Amino acid sequence: MKELIDKLHIEQKLEPLEFKNLLQMEENQRYDFEEKDKISTYLFEKARTVRQEYYGNKVFTRGLIELTNYCKNDCYYCGIRRSNSNALRYRLEKEDILSCCETGYFLGFRTFVLQGGEDRYYTDRIMTDIIYTIKSKYPDCAVTLSLGEKEYETYKAYFDAGADRYLLRHETSNSEHYRKLHPEEMSLSHRKKCLEKLKEIGFQVGCGIMVGSPFQTIDHLVEDLVYMKELSPHMVGIGPFIPHHDTPFAKENSGTMEQTLFLLGLIRLMLPKVLLPATTALGTINPKGREMGILAGANVVMPNLSPLRVRKNYGLYDNKICTGDEAAECRQCMDLRMKSIGYEIVSERGDFIK
Ligand code: SAM
Ligand code: FES
Repeated sequence: MKELIDKLHIEQKLEPLEFKNLLQMEENQRYDFEEKDKISTYLFEKARTVRQEYYGNKVFTRGLIELTNYCKNDCYYCGIRRSNSNALRYRLEKEDILSCCETGYFLGFRTFVLQGGEDRYYTDRIMTDIIYTIKSKYPDCAVTLSLGEKEYETYKAYFDAGADRYLLRHETSNSEHYRKLHPEEMSLSHRKKCLEKLKEIGFQVGCGIMVGSPFQTIDHLVEDLVYMKELSPHMVGIGPFIPHHDTPFAKENSGTMEQTLFLLGLIRLMLPKVLLPATTALGTINPKGREMGILAGANVVMPNLSPLRVRKNYGLYDNKICTGDEAAECRQCMDLRMKSIGYEIVSERGDFIK
C-alpha cells in the first residue's frame, strides 16, 4: 500500500480502484494497528513533505464572517435550512461587516471570508457595495465569498466588485447520493455548473465535501477525489459531517476524524499546491482536530470574526466550537495551537501559488 502513496506522491494521480484500496486500508487499520504501522502515518509524512516544499511552516489564516443564517435552501443536513423554525435568524448589515473587517485587519487577517445562507436580502447591489467597500478600505486583503449557487451575472458582478475567491462545496460527486442529501429542487449538475462558471470568470475556486455524510460510501469518496482532480480547484474545503438536532439527520453519526485526516493527506498529494483548511468542524469532533489537520497536510485555518452576539445562531451542526470567544481570543488561541506543533500563522493574503 505504501507503493500507492508513493505513486500518488510522484504522479499526483491514482486510478479509482487504487484510491478505493487506500481508503479501505485506512478503514481496516483504524482501530487495530499501532500508530507507527498505520498507512495514514506514512501518508501524513509524505503530505507534510509536499506542503513544506511549497508553503514551509506557514499557515494561512482567514477571518470568517458569517453574514446571514437566512437560507432559501433546505439541505437535509444543515441547521440553518429554511424548514428549521427553531433557528433564530439574523443578518449582518454593511456596518457590522465593516466593523468585523476592522477588528480582523487589526488582528492580522489579510483574507476575509463572507459566508452565509442563500439570502435574497443581499441583492447584487447590496452585495457588490459591500465587496467594493471592503476592497477599497483594505486593498491588501483578499475577499472570499461563500454564498451558494447564483446566476453567472451575479458571480460576475461580485468578481468585478473585487471579490477574489469563491468557496462552493460540491458536497458529493455522485448524483444519487446528492439526491439523498438535498430536496428535489436542488441538483448536483447545477452545483457543478456554478463551479465551472466561477472558474471561467476568474475566481480562485474551492470545492469540497462533508466526510461521513449520511449514505456516503467509499465509492462516493473515490468519485469525489476523481472530480477534485478533474476540476483542479485552488482550494478544497473538507470537514466531518456533524448532525444538527433540528434536521432530518439528527440521529445520524458524525464523520470520523481519522477518515477526514486521511482524505486531507490524499488531497495534499493529489493537488500539491492546494489551499486546504483544517476546518472548525474538525476542531469540533476532536479538541486537537485542527492541529492534526495541519499535520495531515492542511495549510489554512479559518477562525471566526463574526460578532459575538450572532455566533451561536450560525448553527450548521451541534456543539460548534468558538461560539463564545471574541475574535481576538480565537486568533491568539490559534497562534498558540499552531506554535505547539511547530507551525506559524502568517499575516498574508495567502494566494494559490501558480
Ligand atoms: N450557502 C452556502 C453554500 O451552500 O455553499 C454557504 C454556507 S453552507 C452552510 C457551508 C457549508 O457548511 C456547506 O457547504 C456544508 O458542507 C457545510 N455544512 C452544512 N451542514 C453541515 C453539517 N451538519 N456538518 C458539517 N458541515 C455542514
Ligand atoms: Fe476559537 Fe480556539 S480558535 S477559541
